Amino acid sequence: MNSSPALCAAISDRITTSPQKRITFAEYMDMVLYHPEHGYYSSKAVNIGFKGGDFFTSASLGADFGELLAEQFVQMWQILGQPRPFSLVEMGAGQGLLALYILNYYQLHYPDFLTALEYIIVEKSPQLQQEQQQRLQNFPARWCNLEEIPNNSITGCFFSNELVDALPVHQFILETGELREIYVSLPSLVKRDENYPLLEGEFVEVVSEVSTPQLTKYFDLIDIDLSANVYPDGYRSEINLAALDWLSIVADRLQRGYVVTVDYGYPADRYYNPRRSQGTLQCYYQHRYHDNPYINIGRQDITAHVNFTALESWGEQCDLNKVGFTQQALFLMALGLGERIASLSYQEISIAQLLQRRESLHQLIDPTGLGGFGVLVQSKGLQAQEISQPLKGLIVPK
Ligand SMILES: C[S@@+](CC[C@H](N)C(=O)[O-])C[C@H]1O[C@@H](n2cnc3c(N)ncnc32)[C@H](O)[C@@H]1O
Repeated sequence: MNSSPALCAAISDRITTSPQKRITFAEYMDMVLYHPEHGYYSSKAVNIGFKGGDFFTSASLGADFGELLAEQFVQMWQILGQPRPFSLVEMGAGQGLLALYILNYYQLHYPDFLTALEYIIVEKSPQLQQEQQQRLQNFPARWCNLEEIPNNSITGCFFSNELVDALPVHQFILETGELREIYVSLPSLVKRDENYPLLEGEFVEVVSEVSTPQLTKYFDLIDIDLSANVYPDGYRSEINLAALDWLSIVADRLQRGYVVTVDYGYPADRYYNPRRSQGTLQCYYQHRYHDNPYINIGRQDITAHVNFTALESWGEQCDLNKVGFTQQALFLMALGLGERIASLSYQEISIAQLLQRRESLHQLIDPTGLGGFGVLVQSKGLQAQEISQPLKGLIVPK
């Protein structure tokens, strides 16, 4: 198996030294992705890109996604009365491409806004942070942890693209309507006598009582009743508690402005549809995806879809009001993507470039792919007259 031996050794060590000789799936996923030296995102293994990468994002397709988002941020600045500074906090910036396209666009088209702008990047992976710093060396950006930002200090917008799907999730399984948790252990430490298939590879899954009552409470938050008879025995899925912790910190740091979350996911009733009995966990390795997180350890990405209802409901508890939820295709069309497609034929570029650009623009709005992503916009501290001004990206064409 193509796993990182050093990472497997670190995980084995964590398991054998833990009191019950097992770790939660969330701890496992956190180590696999973010172990400071050997994790997928911390080592040279991370490979985001349209050609030859493990996966690609909207930012990998060129400048359009960033430039259209940039238009939305300028309007937010105007709605807030053009404050100076206006902070844009990008969380989970990957290779720094989105930041590059956004800042480049402001330099060319909104120099005045650029003088008000403070661009902050929050990035967990030291490796990617280094890549971002190289890519953005000619731009006024700075890096810090969310925790380092003082409470109630930000006027502006916190935003992320495909961050929340990369946060470590807990996994659960239902046994006669009861919530049980999936843990990770070593093959040599467990006896397998389960009634339903569990996954295995370098490590194996074991099922036991939940590690924290927050897992059960999560379903009250999103108004889903797992004890309802509709769920089959062995139904498994994920719970993203880290997303709630993350949103709480963001809400604390924001004094006045917006939070924009772009990602793939569903509202709770679709997420926990009884027919989605194997959850949404996916592993990406060299542009292929599969569902076994116990192979290619440290060399593949692991993600879970985002539960947007949880972000909305939890947000309300943290003073974040829902401004709107839409799909990426509609959001980008409302911000001018249609005009970009129409203007392609007038541009002086080669046929090959034209076809490639058209293909990229279409991919951004493909309803079966990136176009079907959710865009959640929340706000905090806005006055009534600011709330009443519709955001361009959320305007639905008549
Ligand atoms: C799937 S990549 C998305 C990259 C980029 N936003 C894009 O659109 O190409 C996820 C990014 O989030 C970062 N990340 C994951 N957890 C994080 C956290 N808790 N705080 C900050 N960054 C985090 C990863 O290191 C990586 O840069």
